[in-house]
Amino acid sequence: MREILVTSALPYANGDIHLGHLVEYIQTDIWARAMKAQGHQVTYVCADDAHGTAIMLKAEDNGVTPEEQIANVKASHEADFAKFLINFDNYYTTHSEENKHFSELIYRRLNSAGHISTKDVEQLFDPEKQLFLADRFVKGTCPECAAADQYGDNCEVCGTTYDATELKDPRSTLSDATPVLKTSKHYFFDLPEFSQFLQDWTRTDNRLQPSIINKLQEWFDAGLTSWDISRDAPYFGFQIPDTPSDEPDKYFYVWLDAPVGYMASFKNLCEKRVGSDNALDFDRYWLPENENKTEVYHFIGKDIVYFHALFWPAMLAGSEFRTPTGVFAHGFLMVNGEKMSKSRGTFIKAETYAEHLHPEYLRYYFASKLSDKVEDINLDLEDFMQKVNSDMVGKVVNIASRSAGFLVKKYDGMLTEICAEPRLLEDITKTGDEIAAAYENREFSRAMRLIMQCADKANEYIDEKKPWALAKVEGSEQEVQDVCSVAINIFRQLMVYLAPVLPELTNNAKEFLNIDNLSFASRNEWLLGHQINKFKPLMQRIEEKDVAAMVEASKASLGATATSDTRSATTSMPAAKNTQSTKAKSTADSAKLTDYIGIDDFSKVEMKVAHVLECNYVEGADKLLQFTLDVGEDKPRNVFSGIRKFYEPEQLVNKKVICVTNLAPRTMKFGISEGMVLSAGDPKTALVVITLPDEAIVGDVLA
Ligand code: 2FM
Ligand code: ZN
Repeated sequence: MREILVTSALPYANGDIHLGHLVEYIQTDIWARAMKAQGHQVTYVCADDAHGTAIMLKAEDNGVTPEEQIANVKASHEADFAKFLINFDNYYTTHSEENKHFSELIYRRLNSAGHISTKDVEQLFDPEKQLFLADRFVKGTCPECAAADQYGDNCEVCGTTYDATELKDPRSTLSDATPVLKTSKHYFFDLPEFSQFLQDWTRTDNRLQPSIINKLQEWFDAGLTSWDISRDAPYFGFQIPDTPSDEPDKYFYVWLDAPVGYMASFKNLCEKRVGSDNALDFDRYWLPENENKTEVYHFIGKDIVYFHALFWPAMLAGSEFRTPTGVFAHGFLMVNGEKMSKSRGTFIKAETYAEHLHPEYLRYYFASKLSDKVEDINLDLEDFMQKVNSDMVGKVVNIASRSAGFLVKKYDGMLTEICAEPRLLEDITKTGDEIAAAYENREFSRAMRLIMQCADKANEYIDEKKPWALAKVEGSEQEVQDVCSVAINIFRQLMVYLAPVLPELTNNAKEFLNIDNLSFASRNEWLLGHQINKFKPLMQRIEEKDVAAMVEASKASLGATATSDTRSATTSMPAAKNTQSTKAKSTADSAKLTDYIGIDDFSKVEMKVAHVLECNYVEGADKLLQFTLDVGEDKPRNVFSGIRKFYEPEQLVNKKVICVTNLAPRTMKFGISEGMVLSAGDPKTALVVITLPDEAIVGDVLA
């Protein structure tokens, strides 16, 4: 049994949870549940990120104290997470005694090891509000392209990054006053000292995804710079200890104590569990000498890699704590192929979604999209409806609904004593090993595809045996019971596989199946001579009107409000800033000279294993063949390819080929081409279609 601590990024205590956030919590929750189902001891903690200027200002806007503000938001975050079945072992706040203790401890250790220094910093100051202005609270004219109304860190028009002090005609977004320059002493963490350590740390033990390692390389090449960890009053946070008493108070920058919040939440859980059966030992998870006994994983969005893969491990290593075993980044959420948008009603709050649709629909849909890559995922609302209805209702739940009736009506719910198709069940048990590996490797989309392939097998089996027809034939009673019992057993196996994604549905299925265990190991436990209960519908189809109502409600609820925190939905991986930006740029330029592309560019092209269902000549087109391809989606794709000169259609039928699946559809004279089949060679003289071995799984992404 492995001992695993897992976290999701801490949401800010100044805004509602939206679907962009939920990608991460659902991803982490599925992973934690899957690992628990494998028999590991998994602890999942999180907290609200409660400090910083934005929260202080939000409280002011709302006419409450910061403490009231964060308490209200915490309650609402917890309610939202509960609706989406996010099963935290502890949900805490960074504004806690434990967090203060560890933040101070880490700071003091870093300070006594010589990793903290001070420097005077000149910054824009709002003379009306009497506070220093973070970049997002300053707007002005871009020094590079003269675009008006740009934020203090980069220009959205020309993409240049700069210091807020370089903006022309700056103004404070808080008071509209013209900021003045003011100097104050800041505390810095000496990140460059950890450069070698971090280069080794980031590249070893598969801690990070390959695309993240490449991104980090850009930052290493550009050179790390010291990190400003202090903020001046007024600020909502923890005061930095041991500063000279005759100087103004300094506070820890919110990003210093935020990741410490992971530790603090865990510590709080340890305190709650003292003396209980599931007691936890803090030191076992956080002291370096125990590093090989336990594992610590952080799930995060791609925009906060800098904090988690550089600052955080350096802080930990410099203060005698262990570093994370892995940091897993995911991409952002797009809705209908675009950034979430308030005017289009696609900036959807968790609460609004849950008022109209069942949270497990979204859990399944996200699972069917998520992989171990740092790719953005798209919630296409049409596809969402179709996929959930076809996979969950049409395939999975259907297996039970079409078999349970016969058993309950005619056999008092009794399953047969002997399994009529042991091979089929064994086959599905075997697939379970691949499914388990896919879950562990965060290849959820692969796990969902494998599960649906099992469901297809069950439905094919039922279609072939036709129990509804057999039921009318005298003397076939045993066979009807056999077939339905096999189907129910496969359904049980599917429930085991889907339990991490659909905890509520699978829990209800337990009642119907009259069982109490859906652990992964139990996939081998066949229900023989066992009595099931009456079937109740386990999932309803998604209705188009409910999706439309959710979109309308989102327009209404968010139409007028400005978001102060939409980072997990809209920002992108930050470019190295300030002094680093020039260096980063020259690296990019030299890459251009050698015609390299980054891994992110490469991974933009989605290539999938496709099964050629049909291949035909196209009338009136002497260069084309028309393919009907199964790429693991609901419907096959139609693809034209200019290879007629080199192949007879029947040579390609039934082959596994590679299809580029995210090319924009192309309308041709003969129909729409929905992808591209890859071939090698010269289109004029000789082209060979690239085929894959038969074992390749349809729908798998080539990487
Ligand atoms: O970016 C954010 O939303 C931060 N509140 C995440 C903090 S994660 C951790 F470091 F605390
Ligand atoms: Zn500009």
